[in-house]
Amino acid sequence: PKVTFVQPDGTEMIVDAGAGTSVMRTAVSSGVPGIVAECGGSAMCATCHVYVDPGDRAALPEMLAVEDEMLDCAAAEREEGSRLSCQLPVATDIRVRIPETQV
Ligand code: FES
Repeated sequence: PKVTFVQPDGTEMIVDAGAGTSVMRTAVSSGVPGIVAECGGSAMCATCHVYVDPGDRAALPEMLAVEDEMLDCAAAEREEGSRLSCQLPVATDIRVRIPETQV
């Protein structure tokens, strides 16, 4: 599957993701700017915050309480499509927007 990362300025990067990986790991291993992932994927930092495209939200796993709480602490404004990208397995193509800031 492919992950499309949209930067705040509209620049897009489309990355092939390995099976079973997360959106966060896909970004980090491909050098996509704007995904800090300080905690390494434990849903403890909120620096991997992304905005998932409306059409891609339904296919994602439900948010656990820990992710919900961390999103309230994210540096950029929380929106309807806000998720922690470390909690998003890549199963099908997905498009996410990266916030203006993570820290
Ligand atoms: Fe820290 Fe996702 S990497 S919450």
